[in-house]
Amino acid sequence: MTEGRSCPLAYRYSPESLCQSPEEVPEDVLYIIGGLYGNPFALDEIEQMALAEERQGRRVKLVFNGDFNWFNASDSLFREINNRVLGHTASLGNVEYELANASAGAGCGCAYPECVDQGVVERSNRIMERLQGVAEQHPDIQKRLSLLPRYRCLIFGGLKVLVLHGDPESLAGWGLAHESFSAANDSAVLDWLGATGADVIACTHTCLPLLWSAQLGKRSRAVVNNGSAGMGNLRADTRGLITRIGLSDPATEPVAGCEQQGVQISLLPVAFDTAAWLSRFDQLWPAGSDAAESYRQRILNGTSLAAGQVVFPSGA
Ligand SMILES: [Fe+2]
Repeated sequence: MTEGRSCPLAYRYSPESLCQSPEEVPEDVLYIIGGLYGNPFALDEIEQMALAEERQGRRVKLVFNGDFNWFNASDSLFREINNRVLGHTASLGNVEYELANASAGAGCGCAYPECVDQGVVERSNRIMERLQGVAEQHPDIQKRLSLLPRYRCLIFGGLKVLVLHGDPESLAGWGLAHESFSAANDSAVLDWLGATGADVIACTHTCLPLLWSAQLGKRSRAVVNNGSAGMGNLRADTRGLITRIGLSDPATEPVAGCEQQGVQISLLPVAFDTAAWLSRFDQLWPAGSDAAESYRQRILNGTSLAAGQVVFPSGA
């Protein structure tokens, strides 16, 4: 296995198994939060967004679908992020899996495809090693992470919402990445929707957002990838994104959205305090460090993706 490139066997599952034990959600709104990456200021903002909805009479359920750890490589921030997140509903990302139960030769467990530069992969493996060193000092949190499931199937507003980290075959799969939709892989997506029986698949892991929807017979189906809650996702935009699934429209303007059987699915911005986060990030990961090399520009400037490139099929 090449560290950071391959997918550990323990990450794999079959699409047919994912929606066998659905849980009914009584709340009015779901926030699906992938890729917080250890950013406490993004978590502050998400909690405020939920509070604002609750003040308007809507009950909000926060669901973290993995990679809530990454940059939080200090004892205090590691404990803070995990204690706050684990007070909500959560499932594993490859980061949490490797923190709780390191797989031999997995590196960061990201299963990076060929299009990702080798330097990025090697830096991610070293970020993981440093974070594993911190996690080892907190066996109580490692234990709690080890008990998290790899995916969840929720019934919300009559829809079957499959919440996972990568794709329907692997915790770290890239089959629902923006790059895959750009390559027009609709047939694979349709196969997965058929095999899982899900109306909506909410994923993350691959760090760029997308919203795909299609009509299949009488029902519409959707795939939504929130990119990252804790880092900028779009060109010249430092805001994180979460997936909001609600029985009513969001109060703020989404980056993208669609309606499915009366349920609103939106990619909602998280306008966290970027200056405060950069200051904390620079203390943890100074200039020249692996995380600064790989991620500081993105935290500062967002990505190269335009907002018009988020929705698939393009032109929809
Ligand atoms: Fe991931």
